[in-house]
Parts: sequence; C-alpha cells; structure tokens
Amino acid sequence: MEPGQQRMLPRPHDYYTDIMAIDIERIRSDIKNINAFNATPGRGTTRLTFSAEYQGALNYVLSQFNQLGAAVSICPGGNVRGRFAGSDGNAPAVMMGSHLDSVVHGGRFDGVVGVVTALEAARSMVEDKIAHRLPVDVVIFPEEEGSRFGRGLLGSSIWTGRLDAGRLSAIADADGVAYIEAMAQAGLKVTDNRILRSPALAAMLEVHIEQGAVLEKQGARIGLVEAITGIRQLDVTVKGTADHAGTTPMEERSDALQAAARIITAVDEIARHNGPRTVATVGRIACEPAQVNVIPGRARFSVDVRDPDKALLEAAVAAISRTVEQICNARKLEFDLVRLSEAEPVNLSDSILDLLQKKARASGITPHSMISGAGHDTALIAALTKAGMIFVPSRDGLSHCPQEFSRLEDIALACEILLAAAVELAA
Ligand code: GLV
Ligand code: MN
Ligand code: MN
Repeated sequence: MEPGQQRMLPRPHDYYTDIMAIDIERIRSDIKNINAFNATPGRGTTRLTFSAEYQGALNYVLSQFNQLGAAVSICPGGNVRGRFAGSDGNAPAVMMGSHLDSVVHGGRFDGVVGVVTALEAARSMVEDKIAHRLPVDVVIFPEEEGSRFGRGLLGSSIWTGRLDAGRLSAIADADGVAYIEAMAQAGLKVTDNRILRSPALAAMLEVHIEQGAVLEKQGARIGLVEAITGIRQLDVTVKGTADHAGTTPMEERSDALQAAARIITAVDEIARHNGPRTVATVGRIACEPAQVNVIPGRARFSVDVRDPDKALLEAAVAAISRTVEQICNARKLEFDLVRLSEAEPVNLSDSILDLLQKKARASGITPHSMISGAGHDTALIAALTKAGMIFVPSRDGLSHCPQEFSRLEDIALACEILLAAAVELAA
C-alpha cells in the first residue's frame, strides 16, 4: 500500500484476502446448522460418531458439498471427502478439514471449526472462480474423540493405514454395536472401496480451537502449531474378589478399587515428576459390582498420558505400568493393562509454518507459534504429507465442556489465512 493510500474497508461481514472473500455470516450459519444436531441440548454438545446427530450434521455438510459441485467419496472407515477438482486430474490434493464428533457434554467448536473453515475456504474458491491446478479436498474424519468406540483418531488411523479396514469389524461401542454396523445404520454408504489415503497428498491444513489458554495469555488472535503432543491411552483392569463388606476382615480382602485408587494417585505423581510438559489423566472409572455393601471385585479405569517428547512419554508410560504391577502384586491382585490408542509426537512442516506465517502477516496479525497439547487427526496425516494447523483462541482456555467458546471474528480470521494458504498450495 502506498503511503497515504487508504486500505479499502471490507464490506460488512466480508474479510478480504486480496481479491478473495470469505463470508463471516456463512461461517456463523454453518456453525449454527451443525450444532442444531446435538443429543444433549442445554447440557453441552454430544454428537457421537454415527449417531443420528452425527448423521444430521454430516448431511448438512454433504448438502453444502452438493451445492458447490464437489465430488463426494466415503471410505470403508467412514471418512468423508468432498473433492473440488483442479485442472490437473493427476495432481496430489491439498486437504483441509477436521471432525464432527464430540465428547459427551462437550462444546460447540471442537472439530466443527475445522470443518466449517475448510468448507468456507472451498466455497470462496468456487464462488470467486479461483483457478487451481491441484484438487482441493475437504475431509471429515469420524471418531476423532474416541468417545463412542473407545479409540481416538480412528478415521485418520484408517486413512493413513495405521489401522487396517479389515480390523474395523472387531471395534464396537459400549453397547456392543459394531463400528461397521453403526456406520451402515447411520446410512453412510461406502462409495470408495479403496482407503481414501491419497498416494500423493500435497498438503494438509487444519484449523482448530486451541483448547488451552496460551493464546489468550499472549493476547494473540491466531496460533500456528509447530508440534503436536504424543499421546498414549491405557485401559487398566484390576481384578480382586467381590465379598461381604461387613464380614471380611481388612487383611483378608482383595479389594480391586482400593488398589485402583492407589494406582490413580500414583499416576498423578508420576506425571508431576516426569517432565515439565507431561500430563496424565484418569478420566473414566468403573467398579463392579458397585454396591454399597460389597467389596469391589473389579475396577477398570483409563489413563491418558501426553508429552511432546517421545522419550519422556515412554518413560511416563513405563513408570505407570511398573506401578500398576507393583501395587497389584503387593496386594496379590491380577490385572490387565491394554494400550488403547497411540499417537507419536509430531513436528509439523516448517515450510507450511512459514507459509501460514506469511499469510497471517498479510492479514495484519502476528501469529503465536506453539505446541498442541490436544491430539488431532493432522498428527497422523503428517506422516503422509507436509501439514500445518491454525489455532483460534479458546475463551478462558476451556474445552471439552459446555463453556467452550471461540470468537467468530477469530474463526473468520483463521479461515482467511487457511484460504490464502490453500490457494497458494493448490495453484
Ligand atoms: C482430543 O481432543 C484429544 O486431545 O484427546
Ligand atoms: Mn478436536
Ligand atoms: Mn476434542
């Protein structure tokens, strides 16, 4: 801009990226339409993979794909891709997207923001007739949270070949409904029998809410992710003997829950002393027979351990595993320790980070580079292609709860940066 020249003011609700515009009102409407599908209105958002609510939200996105002329593919794992063809049918694709499933009583923005910004970026490209050589794909990965089928990043695990589609038949929800069956019940028909994993992806971009308080503390409107933390999730079952609460002397008990309680306390201690960024959570616990006057015969709980440093992550898992063994052995109890999902710490692409930084500056803001403490499908896709993530601040750092909130203006800004980066990558 020449000195003295005035920057053209945006039309109300429009954000300009050179000649391209994204429309903040369309983003608002997409978020609203998707969140109309919620199993727990008034008590946060619950949209479990392949539930009626999930299907409702997905159908809304599919209707948008149809209106925009995207070619839709659904893979055997339930990943959905809307493809906006480029001029070169053989070129690798620029992929954008996120997830529509939520935790139980979660928020309105986790995952949804990545889907609606990808949709709006693609829509703007279509509307503004932006020529691109590479295909531009908008992708929705199912079961990112693992809240229904107990294993997070499930869709992207299938996509990347970490989980073989043949093994999906062994995965079921807590009611015993198989993943494949739930997908069929939801009316999701496989249209592409090959796993959608593109032999040659050009790039992956995901917008997401931060889910922490770093950006808010920094006063930054946009975060750019340098690395995504590593995650190990364990399922621990301690096996004791159910017995009478009144007649069994303390020294003769095989109380599974008392052992579990000591392990859970140790998990917290281990995380505090393992490394500066280690975190560990026991978020789910059940005991049997769960009666007031019966000694618990069985206790089962989850452990979620995270660290961006692989060695420290493994050290924490090893320490927790040893503790389970020691406490159970000391009390003569048996146990099962099953490793559920695993995501390695991932460094995202430097060249994509540079590109996003450039585009953020062009939008007039200074982005904050950071590490993601939350897991994301992009962490797995990064094994296939160069990947980047754009974070939007979360109010009070809250997420996975009904209070989760991000400002529409910040989401629109992230969308503007996403669009500019996608256009350059797909040119
Ligand atoms: C997903 O939100 C996770 O970080 O577990
Ligand atoms: Mn998410
Ligand atoms: Mn989440």
